[in-house]
Order: sequence, then structure tokens, then C-alpha cells
Amino acid sequence: MRRHQQGANMKIGLLTSGGDCPGLNAVIRGAVLNGVKKYGYEFVGFRDGWRGVVEGDYMDLPRQKVRGLASQGGTIIGTSRTNPFDGPNGGPENIEIMMERHGIDAIVAIGGEGTLAGAKRLADAGLPVIGVPKTIDNDLRATDYTFGFDTAVSIATEAMDRIRTTGESHHRCMVAEVMGRHVGWIALHSGMAAGAHAILIPEVKVSMEQVAEWVKEVHDRGRSPLVVVAEGFIPEGFDDVMANKGTEKDGRPRLGGIGEYITHEIEKMTGIETRNTILGHIQRGGAPTGYDRVLATRLGMGAVDMVAQKQWGKMVSVQGTEIKYVPLEEALDGLKSVPQERWDEAAVLFGR
Ligand code: F6P
Repeated sequence: MRRHQQGANMKIGLLTSGGDCPGLNAVIRGAVLNGVKKYGYEFVGFRDGWRGVVEGDYMDLPRQKVRGLASQGGTIIGTSRTNPFDGPNGGPENIEIMMERHGIDAIVAIGGEGTLAGAKRLADAGLPVIGVPKTIDNDLRATDYTFGFDTAVSIATEAMDRIRTTGESHHRCMVAEVMGRHVGWIALHSGMAAGAHAILIPEVKVSMEQVAEWVKEVHDRGRSPLVVVAEGFIPEGFDDVMANKGTEKDGRPRLGGIGEYITHEIEKMTGIETRNTILGHIQRGGAPTGYDRVLATRLGMGAVDMVAQKQWGKMVSVQGTEIKYVPLEEALDGLKSVPQERWDEAAVLFGR
């Protein structure tokens, strides 16, 4: 393995990979500013995640390029779900040759579970790689929060506040489907914030009879019931998630349909007029909240401090209010799901 350059001449390659997330640009800005000001490093941004790495496709990221970025949604360097081990140019040997050719000394990979799993495999093969956790779903272990989550919850809450006023006017039951493929953190937090009368998450099976009962109780006391459902919720009696929209390029089923299904079932079982709203990618777009900007900036800065300390194979994280360095395998040791007691706590507020 090549000897990695140290000191002021170091060039660091940043990449953002997987589903985008409000705060990605703030990470990029935090990393570049910290690296330029504290260490005199240079930065490049690989275009579209691991695709840019395997194809050696990148842009320079001088300080001027990150000006004003903390408040911008999306990612200026693009993202994709490319696997760094796929294709004729993938794998650690090829990536090492690419880094050598372009004088890139370290890679900072900003992404969720899939991205960080790729980062870990590359680091295990001896490449100088560091991870930054990213997901609006907040399902990564070894970090208390991921940036993007607070923004998604704020957007979803605002949408539900609006859904509730129109629901009240028409005495309807309103269903709001939010993101959350494997975990229900967005549903739990936004539902609690908006005063939902039922919150349905992938971790907890609930029967349609129970949902209908909550809805009727709320309707009977003169309110418009709000049911929040995470896209990965599986009703009792079903074996699998609702996913009748084909599969993604990476083989994942494209989720969707649970909101529509429960809307239909509620109307059928209760006789109450019911409407469905799918919040979808609105939850991921636009400016990050103040909380996410701060978290993302600190994680970006922390990742560059880790490069300076050669903490390869580790991930920057937040625990309480502290920035910590944790082995990537800790982050990848299963998903951080909603504990039963957090759902039980929220369930006290459901129904009557
Ligand atoms: O992984 C984050 C996430 O927001 C999931 O909750 C959701 O299933 C997925 O991304 C959808 O992403 P896309 O439609 O961009 O593939």
C-alpha cells in the first residue's frame, strides 16, 4: 500500500453517496474550511458518490466553492448509489491506482449504511478512508443523531399541521405517509409533534382493527383523526412491506402503497371519509434546519481532524453534544430502530 502524504500538501477527496439529505453541503463546507484553515489541505469532490471515485471523476473544491453552502439543500457534488466494488474500475486496487494518479491522499465518504459498508471494506483493504454518517431516517448506530433527520421531522410536522386543519374542516380522517424504510423515527417524532392519533412504524405490528378503533374513538369525540404511517410499516397479518413499484438499480424494492392501503381500509372499516397524503421526497429537499446545519458542520470539521490523525476505518459521530470517533463496524452493527418503549410512550396519546 502506498505511503500516504501527510502535512500541508495533502489532498482529500470528499464524496456524498446514497439518498441525498439536507446538510450534505454543510458537511462539505465544514470539512473544506477546517482543512484549509487549520491544516492547509486541498480538497476535491468526487462527482456522484462512488461513481466519481471509480471513474476518477471529480471537481476541485477550493474555499470559494463552499461559500454560503451551510444553508443549501442537496449536494453540490452529486450522489448515486454506485457500489465501489462493482464494475471493471471498482475495488481497492483500482481505487488506489486512481488516488495515486490524481495525488489524492484520503477519502471522506459521507453516506448511510450502504456507503459506510463500502467505506469499511475499502479501509479494511488498507485504503485511507473515513466515514461521515448521513441519513434522514436516523437509523445509524454509534451516533445519537444524523443530520437531515431534524429537517425531515420539521418538514413532516409542518405538513401534518396543514393536513390537520383541512381534515378538521371536512370531519375527515387524514393519513400521512412519511419516509422510513426500516425504522420509524421520522414517523414517531413528526407524529408526536403534530399530535397524531396513531403512529404506525416498521418496528411494531398493529392490526387494522386497532387502527380503525383509534380512528373511530377520535372521530366520535369530534376530532379529525390523523394517522401517521412510515412507508415500511407492515400491518399485523402481513408478511412483507408494501412494494408494488418494482425494484431499484441496487436491487432494493421501491416502497410505496401502505398509506393508500390503510386509507382504503380505514374508510371501509369505519365509514369515515379518509384521505391520504404521501410526503415523499419533500422531506429530503430544501434547506436544513439550524440544528442540522450545526451538526453537519461539526461532523465535516471532525472528519478532517480525523484525517489529520490518520483515524482510517473510523466514522465521526455525535454522542450527546460531543464529537467522537468510532470504528465503522460499530455504526454498521445492525440498524438503530425505535425501541418498543418509545412507541408505547407515544401510544398513550393515540385514540380516545
Ligand atoms: O434512505 C433514506 C430514504 O429516505 C428512505 O427512507 C427511503 O426509502 C429512501 O431514502 C428513498 O430514496 P430514493 O427514492 O431516493 O431511492
